[in-house]
Amino acid sequence: MTDKTGFSRRDYLRLLGAGAAAAAATTAADHSAFGAAPIYDQSAEDRIRRMKWWHEAKFGMFIHWGLYSILGRHEWVMEMEGIPVSEYEQLARRFRPKPSPAREWAQLARRAGMKYMVMTTKHHEGFCLFDTKTTDYCAPRQAAGRDLVREYVDAVRAEGLRVGLYFSLMDWHHPDGARCQFDEAARRRFVDYTHAQIRELMTNYGKIDILWYDVPWPLDVGGWESERMNEMVFGLQPDIIVNNRNDPQKQMGDFFTPEQRIEAAAEGKAWEACMTMNDSWGYHAADDAWKAPKQVIRNLIACARDGGNYLINIGPEADGSVPQRSVEILNTVGAWMDKNGRSLYGADRCQPTRCRFASFSRRGATLYMHVHFWPGETVALAGLMNRVKSARLLATNENVKFEQDDYRVRFTGLPVKAPDAPITTIAIECDGEPKQDQYFVRRRERGQV
Ligand code: GLC
Repeated sequence: MTDKTGFSRRDYLRLLGAGAAAAAATTAADHSAFGAAPIYDQSAEDRIRRMKWWHEAKFGMFIHWGLYSILGRHEWVMEMEGIPVSEYEQLARRFRPKPSPAREWAQLARRAGMKYMVMTTKHHEGFCLFDTKTTDYCAPRQAAGRDLVREYVDAVRAEGLRVGLYFSLMDWHHPDGARCQFDEAARRRFVDYTHAQIRELMTNYGKIDILWYDVPWPLDVGGWESERMNEMVFGLQPDIIVNNRNDPQKQMGDFFTPEQRIEAAAEGKAWEACMTMNDSWGYHAADDAWKAPKQVIRNLIACARDGGNYLINIGPEADGSVPQRSVEILNTVGAWMDKNGRSLYGADRCQPTRCRFASFSRRGATLYMHVHFWPGETVALAGLMNRVKSARLLATNENVKFEQDDYRVRFTGLPVKAPDAPITTIAIECDGEPKQDQYFVRRRERGQV
């Protein structure tokens, strides 16, 4: 499918990743009647209030689940295999999940140390997992016969986690989903349809903590009436936080959403890296490119160090079962988080980065050195500009001996084999906010300091 500039959806998505502004400028239809770039913003103070829990939470579970889970070949299967709507929509007659699979997901998330969850209420395929008056193409009125968003929300709350709803603006099923770009009557219908669904989600399930928009193809903020969309959302859910994806230029909303990569936003801007556990968001039976649990933890640490959150995905099968490998990975992560999660929840941005076998996080004056390649009896940290007051192994609380000089701190008397797995964390209490000067050693040797 291409628009009048000859751009396909795929081109558009690729460009969104590379440079949203360029994409928006070249592909957006002319909706000047709806005004230029919106000036919508919540006050900074209100944002701090709404986002406090989220900044402390650090770790969440993404769930991609829909009709594509039946085919088990990635959530883009409809587009990637060119399946016509009339054929694809038949899947709705076969989607009959087992009772309350969301309970398993929520228990798994809590065990893994996650504090919130975000589930696809409608992905690009257009099938609604929630009860809606806007279409019959929804779980309660098809084979499933029940409101799967309701089950999910109840399950998440039962585990004491925060509730996030993902919602795709792009819709491959709705007859106006692409036409809206060129045809004003179609745009009006489709935007009303979209806003009505969001209103239902924001009205029918009690307090919702996160609204996670996705893919604003093929309209711009004016076309989607994104400012009005967010105003409606905040009117119904005053404590909610929303991401930036109902704006192709990604300037609206409360947080940035780097995808499949860890990339900190500028200081003071909130961000969350979302990532698959293999290479697919939706269930993909043959995708065996699983991340090692150690990699998942390292990613989480990298996010926390730079002030971000980490949202890692599961793609349940059509009946709602979580692929066994995902369960194993998250259980391993959870066992580690039980002992070491204190180093990440509520973490502050952390300046030290330099090491080839460890990464860092920080809370106040405590620096956490997360050793992923254990060097043996001595672990050295270069260029720490603070005095170390004490050090201990976070998992066991055992004291660690250390020697500190101007150049480095050496933690000594440690076991040859890593005392914790898959990562060993040393909590280093400093006399102030830990700072590392990577050039100090060389400058001092040259007599420059
Ligand atoms: C992309 C994909 C989509 C996935 C999302 C998660 O936008 O199109 O399938 O849901 O990323 O961030």
